[in-house]
Amino acid sequence: MSRKLFVTTALPYANAPFHVGHMMEYIQADIWVRFQRMLGSDVSFVCADDAHGAPIMIAADKAGKTPQAFVAEIAAGRKRYLDGFHVAFDNWHSTDAPENHELAQSIYRALRKQGLIAQRTIEQFYDPVKGMFLPDRYIRGICPNCGFPDQYGDNCENCGAVYAPTELKKPYSTITGATPVLKSSDHYFFQLSSPRCIEFLQGWMNKPGRLQPEVLNKIKEWFATDEETGAVKLADWDISRDAPYFGIEIPDAPGKYFYVWLDAPIGYLASLKNLLERRGVDFEAFLNDPEVEQIHFIGKDIVTFHTLFWPAMLHFSGRKVPDKINVHGFITLGGDKMSKSRGTGISPLRYLELGMNAEWLRYYIAAKLNARVEDIEFNPEDFVARVNSDLVGKYINIASRAAGFIGKRFGGRLSGDIGVEGRTLLDTLRAHRETIAELYEEREYAKALRETMLLADRVNEYVDRHKPWELAKQSGQDAVLHDVCSVCIEAFRVLTIYLKPVLPALAAQVEAFLQVDPLDFAAAARALGAHTIGSYAHLMQRVDPKQLEALFEAPAAAAPAAPGGEAIGPAITIDDFAKVDLRIAKIVACSAVEGSTKLLRLTLDAGEGRERNVFSGIASAYRPEELVGKLTVLVANLAPRKMKFGISEGMVLAASHADEKAEPGIYILEPHPGAQPGMRVR
Ligand code: MSP
Ligand code: ZN
Repeated sequence: MSRKLFVTTALPYANAPFHVGHMMEYIQADIWVRFQRMLGSDVSFVCADDAHGAPIMIAADKAGKTPQAFVAEIAAGRKRYLDGFHVAFDNWHSTDAPENHELAQSIYRALRKQGLIAQRTIEQFYDPVKGMFLPDRYIRGICPNCGFPDQYGDNCENCGAVYAPTELKKPYSTITGATPVLKSSDHYFFQLSSPRCIEFLQGWMNKPGRLQPEVLNKIKEWFATDEETGAVKLADWDISRDAPYFGIEIPDAPGKYFYVWLDAPIGYLASLKNLLERRGVDFEAFLNDPEVEQIHFIGKDIVTFHTLFWPAMLHFSGRKVPDKINVHGFITLGGDKMSKSRGTGISPLRYLELGMNAEWLRYYIAAKLNARVEDIEFNPEDFVARVNSDLVGKYINIASRAAGFIGKRFGGRLSGDIGVEGRTLLDTLRAHRETIAELYEEREYAKALRETMLLADRVNEYVDRHKPWELAKQSGQDAVLHDVCSVCIEAFRVLTIYLKPVLPALAAQVEAFLQVDPLDFAAAARALGAHTIGSYAHLMQRVDPKQLEALFEAPAAAAPAAPGGEAIGPAITIDDFAKVDLRIAKIVACSAVEGSTKLLRLTLDAGEGRERNVFSGIASAYRPEELVGKLTVLVANLAPRKMKFGISEGMVLAASHADEKAEPGIYILEPHPGAQPGMRVR
């Protein structure tokens, strides 16, 4: 039963690098896609940068860049994360690409032809200094309800009141500080509240299997009718914004642009189109093929866009509607949503730079995910326990306990006839194939992994009963040893199949070691028999809890930039300062670090009678030869840190802006002439 699937994840705003929340969404979808491929389905798995909108335009302006250049820089950084965490999108595109401009305009024209676009004049706050209409989040003022100062344009953080920005007292623009003025402008609306739309949406959302029950319940609220007027809560949707705006021009409406959320989901189609054109497949034919299932993975904060606006846009422009919207909760850290804008969370890139295995995180996230809209908490102790006790302790261990004997004692050849007990065990493992497949299909990954680990427990019990390490010492037990180890290897192969959607790189290593073709789900039913395997190399390390500590300490360069400079940190005492042992050090050697564009490797003499190795993120500012022979300042008592490229024994001091990207320049500290290596700086 091979299916044709068109799968997407939400398109991330192109104003910041990925945070762990993004990675969680990609990992969830990637596991599902890899699982479908292991069943033989044909999957087109795409994503793109969500490039448009006022916040990106304003951020680009602040950085002194065009919005195009600004989003291109963010886009250039995506690959490292996606490759690093084995997220196998078939295409990564942009909502600012030509395909999206064309598709958005043609969908709009179709909606207009359907009579579903209305034009109305609205009054809005306008920044007379900047010469632009202000989105609510760029207006602040005094809460009209409780009088608390400095509240957002649409709600008060102090008393929770919700209001229109025009109700704020003493409003000001957060961009220029100017007092906004009311100005009227023509806007375009998509008439979602029309009876046609309402009827369609209710039919769409109630189709079984399309939405999770809790999602359906939530969006039903939009269709509740007001007792007096009989009108539903769902209103027409304002889809236009006035210039200046970074977006797609509305046809026949000079100076008007589509609101970013109109063209953003169309970006799914644009990315698919771009992919199919490269593959020589007809995009329209593919998309209208009733056999193709269109499936979106998204977070719980963007449900209305995907369950109301998006299906209606597709349907009334004469296209096929989404078949399924898979909504997930947030990944949290200490209960806090992990987004970079709030300055909390762990950096996925730092995770990789610390040399942590990407598949640990994939496994951990999968071990917590289910099909409901529930938040999952990243808990460091739990992370270590799941990876070390389950993944390595239960699963990897099976191979490491048996592979050596097969290689050394039996020339790598597995036993072709393994006896009743082994066969029964393997039959049990194989019999779980359908259950586990169903759990992956339903996105019940936590359950799929629990089932798999229970099977691993059984295999380990079998190993403990037969003790191959003792059999190996006894004479005349070769045949038994051969059988027991062969059962283990075959069990390990079946378990690898069940884990492969989560652990693709590890599975590839296992395939090489077992000398088998790429494993799919059908391969679980067949036995390897008297097959010759390759030599075993250790497959996965345990997590060192120290790595997690390093992950959570904030890297200096990632401090959030305050507008106009970095705020002075909280006060410390002289004793606090004295804890930091700063020494003059001589840079005796310096070289580039292969595989890193950021780091230089410094060899330092701090008068200790030995040399230190320190990695420093200054490669953008210095060539290695410029630094050799110079003196600088070393934090000499910083705990050594294991990095991907080796151990770093300290840190050298350098000055930079909080946001090195926005205002480039890193300046190493150098003492006045006369200072000697080893002198303390105080
Ligand atoms: N650009 C829009 C989506 C447009 S889709 C046509 C957007 N971008 S986003 O970058 O803010 O979020 C992208 C995805 O990441 C969303 O699905 C969002 O729910 C998800 N997550 C953001 N923070 C998250 C967590 N802490 N945990 C899990 N997912 C989270 O919204
Ligand atoms: Zn208030």
